[in-house]
Amino acid sequence: MRVAVIGSGGREHALVWKLKQSPQVSELYVLPGNPGMVELAKLVKVEQSVAALVAEIENLAIDFVVVGPEQPLAEGLADELSKRGVLTFGPMKASAKLESSKVFAKRLMKSCKVPTAAFEVFSDFRLFEKFVQENPRANGRVVKADGLAAGKGAFVCTNDAEAVDVGRRLLAASELGEAGATIVVEEMLTGREASLHFLCDGERFLALPPAQDYKRAFDGDEGPNTGGMGTFCPARHVSEVTIRDVELRVVSPILKELKGQGTPYRGLLYVGIMLTESGPQVIEFNCRFGDPETQVMLPCLGYDLLEPMIECAKGQLNPAKYSAQAVGNAVCVVLCAEGYPASYLKHVPLTAPACNSNQILFSAGTTTVEGKWVSSGGRVLNAVGLGDTMNEARTNAYDLAHQAIVEGLRMRSDIALSEVS
Ligand code: AMP
Ligand code: GLY
Repeated sequence: MRVAVIGSGGREHALVWKLKQSPQVSELYVLPGNPGMVELAKLVKVEQSVAALVAEIENLAIDFVVVGPEQPLAEGLADELSKRGVLTFGPMKASAKLESSKVFAKRLMKSCKVPTAAFEVFSDFRLFEKFVQENPRANGRVVKADGLAAGKGAFVCTNDAEAVDVGRRLLAASELGEAGATIVVEEMLTGREASLHFLCDGERFLALPPAQDYKRAFDGDEGPNTGGMGTFCPARHVSEVTIRDVELRVVSPILKELKGQGTPYRGLLYVGIMLTESGPQVIEFNCRFGDPETQVMLPCLGYDLLEPMIECAKGQLNPAKYSAQAVGNAVCVVLCAEGYPASYLKHVPLTAPACNSNQILFSAGTTTVEGKWVSSGGRVLNAVGLGDTMNEARTNAYDLAHQAIVEGLRMRSDIALSEVS
């Protein structure tokens, strides 16, 4: 089978690494990928527009496409591929709205009685300001841009003045353009977070082992939100009972509703949850694998991922065939460019350390300039450590991270620290 992965980051490197192990894969392509993946797949440079991707996929006679990032899904890549009879893992545009519109996601959750923070929607700054003034909150609230904002669209505001200021920046000053022309204002929830991933075929689903992401830039969860500075899997603070609860009260009703609307959800459903005193609450949905959650979940899967992915794309998932239990433990430490998530240093020269059998170096924002391997993005390298215990996995991850780090890159030092004794 000729398989293509769309995207270029650490998540796509992990997907390529896992799919390469499938005996069913004869040719593996990544569009466009990055230089760190060159030994696993053929890198094909292509513009990331739907038209250009579709043309290249047809040109390469691809049998199965796995879409990594949200943008091409939100723009209808799965729809166009499906029209041409190309089997695709990733939802159609209408159901990718679970991620590309927070308003759509929140209204759907409300109509399906999914546990999530109470919310209001505004497109007019004056009305928003009036609402905040008339409904003061002492413990803050969260303001979110409706549209895709590359992880920069959620603002946790500790007081009302801050919330009004964010509303002004998005609604009146259009700081995030069209993505922030409508906002969702949510009540502030408190609790520990976790990332749950479900492979979905439109009706049935299969849970992957739970992971935890570290979203803040600095140790001790200080600093601005980022795309993710590190992860571990399995997240043992998420009990079996919680996972069943999320399946029953979140995944099942959402899949049923989308199917009923004629837009069945086929692909990966990412459910970001907060474990509050009143049980798990949904913080967000994503229509694709988490990054860097994928980098720790896939090494903990005991089965060939291609099989359930193809079953999902065909609408024929058989969840009973696959074990939901994690095999071993994995920790991922993200090496990011100095300055990230604000403006950051580029073209930092990189070196690839030798990995032992319990270490994997996934590359994210990297490229080649004049034959040299250099950084090109905010999140540059992902040092992954595996182990029979989380302690071992963490030691392996940080050993690798220390070997790979160079001047111009930085990392958090407390990834998975809470998990080890
Ligand atoms: P989102 O883009 O919706 O995932 O939000 C980014 C981050 O903001 C989350 O991972 C949480 O840490 C925080 N957050 C989002 N919504 C809420 C909420 N309702 N209450 C508290 N924190 C939140
Ligand atoms: N790591 C969070 C995300 O992928 O959205």
